[in-house]
Amino acid sequence: MEMPETCDFTVFGGTGDLALRKLLPALYMRDHEGQLPPDTRIIAVSHSDLDDAAYRLQVRAALAEHLAPGVLREDVLERLLARLHHVTLDFSDPDGWHLFHGLLKDRPSYDETVRVYYLAVAPRMFGQVCERLDEIGAVDEHARVVMEKPIGHDLESARAVNESVGRVFEERQIFRIDHYLGKESVQNLLVTRFANTFLEPLWNSSWVDHVQITVAESLGVGSRGGYYDQAGALRDMVQNHLLQLLCLVAMEPPTYVDRETVRDEKLKVLQALKPMTPEVIDRDTVRGRYDAGQVDGEVVASYDDEVGAGSRTETFVALKTEVQNWRWAGVPFYLRTGKRMDRRASEIVVVFKRPPHSMFPQAEGVTTPNRLHILVQPDEGMRLHLTAKEPGPGGYRLRPVSLDLAYATAFDQRLPDAYERLLMDVMKGNPTLFMRRDEVEAAWAWAEPVLHRWASTPEQPLGYPAGTAGPTAAAALLERDGRTWQELDS
Ligand code: BG6
Repeated sequence: MEMPETCDFTVFGGTGDLALRKLLPALYMRDHEGQLPPDTRIIAVSHSDLDDAAYRLQVRAALAEHLAPGVLREDVLERLLARLHHVTLDFSDPDGWHLFHGLLKDRPSYDETVRVYYLAVAPRMFGQVCERLDEIGAVDEHARVVMEKPIGHDLESARAVNESVGRVFEERQIFRIDHYLGKESVQNLLVTRFANTFLEPLWNSSWVDHVQITVAESLGVGSRGGYYDQAGALRDMVQNHLLQLLCLVAMEPPTYVDRETVRDEKLKVLQALKPMTPEVIDRDTVRGRYDAGQVDGEVVASYDDEVGAGSRTETFVALKTEVQNWRWAGVPFYLRTGKRMDRRASEIVVVFKRPPHSMFPQAEGVTTPNRLHILVQPDEGMRLHLTAKEPGPGGYRLRPVSLDLAYATAFDQRLPDAYERLLMDVMKGNPTLFMRRDEVEAAWAWAEPVLHRWASTPEQPLGYPAGTAGPTAAAALLERDGRTWQELDS
């Protein structure tokens, strides 16, 4: 496995939820696999008044809570904790910044060390942090900056964020994370499509009837209500994660996989999406918000009870779109995502057309169209639904059967968390799985009319009981086209 270069990995927002729940466990796992060079340091920056020892205690507790059972090893833990430093910093205090820079410089070979600045802070701070880094002289060719979504809340604000960060860092130094691109099953989608021969001839409008992309969550907004109420499902999930999945399903094969080619092809898909005009939005989008209900046998509160009455924020979106190019002309792509749904399940379903001619007119039984389920989570894998003859004499009885690939049984290896792969890619300087500026802005350009239209109409999102598949209008969106949402086992 290729090792990254020695790195000072700074996390702005080092005591926050993202750092403690995702970034540090991911760094621990990579250290566990021997992938962090010995003199790599992790520097947490926050407002909290903590010294290194107090921060290390906090991280020790967070790792115990968030790592998978059985992976915490005392020797690795001690090694990781020894890498940690905490800097208390008020972003408006120049002296604090100089102290921080002093710490960065306090190492042999400062000039050759990769410096990663991970902005796990509110997006409105992104520009300010980058400017200060520049002012103190901490940005050179070895520096990289990592941004988490949301990158803006519409096209204009996304451009403003990109501008402010772009004034300090070159595009090749900017890593915009969409953690869905780090998921094993999502990367495997590229391999399935392009490292096999049998699918590609069928992967177009001649053979594919439609595509469904679902990201369903059983959790509600929990403690993130403040952020979420300003965002909603379209901004939080569709503009980024679901569109990225759509891009990987729909993109043309690049000549080879490298830092720009995949992103070039994804951009073309985003640019080919059918524009969301007011008529299209009114007809082809459904938004919902969860009411009280039951999830996994537990009674759960409504969104209004969690966040406060009077919100117009959607926690569910279903919509239909098209990729208007030669390959996909006329093939609907149905997207759906929601919180407090009946289960946690993310999957892509490619539904193929029925055979052109039915050879078995007298056949008993059911035939369903072939379909390929790509299971993103919770259990990664693939399932291909076919039709087979039920064994036995006396005519043809047709029955749906499936070919299954479950990652957990097909491979011995543990499936790494998305952040493990992505953080290593940042340290190695590989941006293939990160969103480029033009992609982010193309996604906003497509999504923004929907936000405007919804904001301009008096209608509220439709209510749906927590623990269900969303508003009935989401089912109707497909039924009116003679289709249904495909469940894995149906
Ligand atoms: C985040 C969203 O980007 O993705 C959250 O902000 C959402 O609202 C999360 O819950 C889902 O990620 P995953 O990996 O659990 O599917």
